[in-house]
This record gives sequence, C-alpha cells and structure tokens, in this order.
Amino acid sequence: MKKKILVTGACGFIGSHLVEKLAKNKKYDVTALCYYNSSNSIGNLSYIHKKLLKKIKIIFGDVRSEDLTTNITKNKDIVVHLAALISIPYSYVSPKSYIDTNIYGTYNILNSCKNNSVKKIIITSTSEVYGTAQYVPIDEKHPLNSQSPYAASKVAADQIALSFKKSFNLPVLIARPFNTFGPRQSSRAIIPTLITQMINQKNFIKVGNINTKRDFTYIDDTINGFIKLINSKKIDADQINIASGFEIEIKNLIKVISNQLDIKKLRIIFDKKRIRPKNSEVYRLLASNKKIKKLYNWQPKYKNARNFSYAISKTIDWFKLNKNVSISNFHDYNI
Ligand SMILES: NC(=O)c1ccc[n+]([C@@H]2O[C@H](COP(=O)([O-])OP(=O)(O)OC[C@H]3O[C@@H](n4cnc5c(N)ncnc54)[C@H](O)[C@@H]3O)[C@@H](O)[C@H]2O)c1
Repeated sequence: MKKKILVTGACGFIGSHLVEKLAKNKKYDVTALCYYNSSNSIGNLSYIHKKLLKKIKIIFGDVRSEDLTTNITKNKDIVVHLAALISIPYSYVSPKSYIDTNIYGTYNILNSCKNNSVKKIIITSTSEVYGTAQYVPIDEKHPLNSQSPYAASKVAADQIALSFKKSFNLPVLIARPFNTFGPRQSSRAIIPTLITQMINQKNFIKVGNINTKRDFTYIDDTINGFIKLINSKKIDADQINIASGFEIEIKNLIKVISNQLDIKKLRIIFDKKRIRPKNSEVYRLLASNKKIKKLYNWQPKYKNARNFSYAISKTIDWFKLNKNVSISNFHDYNI
C-alpha cells in the first residue's frame, strides 16, 4: 500500500523539490500544502512537469490555523513540515509574524499529528539555531544560540517538537539543513542574489558582510537527506544536521560565481541595508554530518570545491533559463 505523505511549505524552494522527488516514487501518495492566496498560485510547484503535477494533491491553507492542520494531517502516515517564514532580515521587521508562523504553526502541526496518530513527523529546523560556531564542525550537541528572531522562532519550534517526543512519545524527528542552494531558490538568499545581480548588471554587485563563512549544500543532497529520513524506520535520533561539510567564505563564493560568468572586473559595493546588526551576524557555520552519514547512510555528492563549483554552474544555468525570475528580482534588496 502507498504511504500517505503530507509536505507543508510545498510551494517553496525545498518543498517543491521534495514533493517532485516523492511524486516520482510509486511508494508515495503525496499531498502538498501551499500557502493560501486568492490567485491560486502554486509557486515553485509550477516548475514540475504537468503529468507529474497531476499526481500531487494540492491543498491551500495556512499553518497558523488549527482547523486546517487538523484536517490535512488526517489519515497521513508521514508529515514533513517545511512551511515557515525564513528570511532573517524580515524577522527584524516583523518578529511577531515569525512567532505566529514558525512557533504556533509548528505547534499546530505537532498537536494535529498527535491527535491524528501520524506515524512519522519531520520538523525542519535550520543551522541558524546554533548561531556563530563555538567550535567546528558543529555537531548536534553544539549549544543553541539564536542571534535573530528567525533563529529564536526555530529554536522554540524545535523544543516544542522535542517536548512532544518526550512527553507524548510522538514519533518526531528534527531535520536541520545548513544553507541549501540551487534552482528555484528566492533571491533573498545569498547565492541567487549574487547570480541574478551578476547576470543582469555584469560589472557590479551590492553585498553585505562578505567575510562570513557558510557550509553550502546543493538542493539534490538536501532532498536526498530528507528522503533518507523519510524512508528510515529509525526515529530514535532526534536532531539531524543535513550539510555537505564544505565551507566557503562569501568573498570566495563571489569569485566562484564571477569566474563562471566570465566577469573580469567586478565592483563590490557594500550596502548598509544588507549588513546584519553586529551581534546578530552569524560569522561561521560549518557542520558535522557524521550523524546522518552513520545512522541514515547518507552521503553528499557535492562536498568539495570542484563539486561545489559544478553545482553553482547548474544553478547559474537555471537562472539564465528562467529569465523572468532572474530579471524581476535583481535590483532591489529582496528580504
Ligand atoms: N533554504 C535554506 O537554505 C534553508 C536552510 C535551513 C533550513 N531551512 C528551512 O527549510 C524550510 C523551507 O525553506 P525554503 O528555503 O524552501 O523556504 P521558502 O520560503 O522557499 O519556503 C517556505 C514556504 O512556506 C510557506 N509558508 C509561509 N508561511 C506559511 C503559512 N503561514 N502557512 C502555510 N505555508 C506558509 C511559504 O509560502 C513558502 O512556500 C523552512 O522551514 C526553513 O526554515 C531552509
């Protein structure tokens, strides 16, 4: 019998790729939750081939509503919760919306899954919960230190999930991706903003802090990480990093992208708006991926400078092909 799986945040970057991969697998009957909007936009799901899209049951709604989460989790075997507000800069503008969506939204999913006896729940966390690395590589025992309202909302959501596991024996796992990149990502993220600016402006880019370091994971690897967690019978490990273990400083990332676009002279303009408050800046994120490799037999494909550069070239190709996306978003600082 097919497993009934619900993915929230399905119209987003990671959600659309996950739904696409699951729908290709005959083992799954996939329901995708898209954020309600009156124009019926299915966001990134529109990049999925029409034939495959027909196999996906699309539902519109808002995870802040327990009426909705109660209904959509009924008769589901697995729920993967990705819906969230994710931008750090916007969390400075509207912290309460992060509390409402990321904390109450996650609570609604957990409580509804508990009431509907869902057999496996995966809650999506983020590397931002660790804050600037206190040691590297960052394993799952690293202290949590939220430096932004976004990170704080994710720490709270994770803790509620863990408390449901301890208190009610809820079969919940926390997947903790580090910075993921690839086709379909919005230009609020560093790699799409650099690519779209370079494609369209050619000789200058506006940036924030370029001395920070990040562990970047290509979308295919992140999705395979989720698939391993979904397919595995294990739920005893509670928090799992998903990361390539490949670290790069943003100034070097700029070089990788400009080289690939054959840009010889690039003016770097520092834009105050793009710089986080000093104590809110996360200077370094480099993951330990030992746990997911050992427990779930996951291996990243894009884990060194050469593979990373290849993944960047695939991402550039996608933005070049989807000119409507790359042109509409490059001018302004998209938070
Ligand atoms: N992209 C990354 O690098 C990264 C890294 C670590 C963790 N994450 C986590 O992965 C998840 C997905 O991130 P993403 O990069 O795909 O972001 P995204 O913004 O592309 O996707 C999030 C989706 O959630 C939806 N959403 C927001 N509020 C909602 C609500 N109230 N009800 C229903 N849906 C709502 C949005 O419309 C969007 O489609 C998030 O939980 C994020 O915190 C992402």
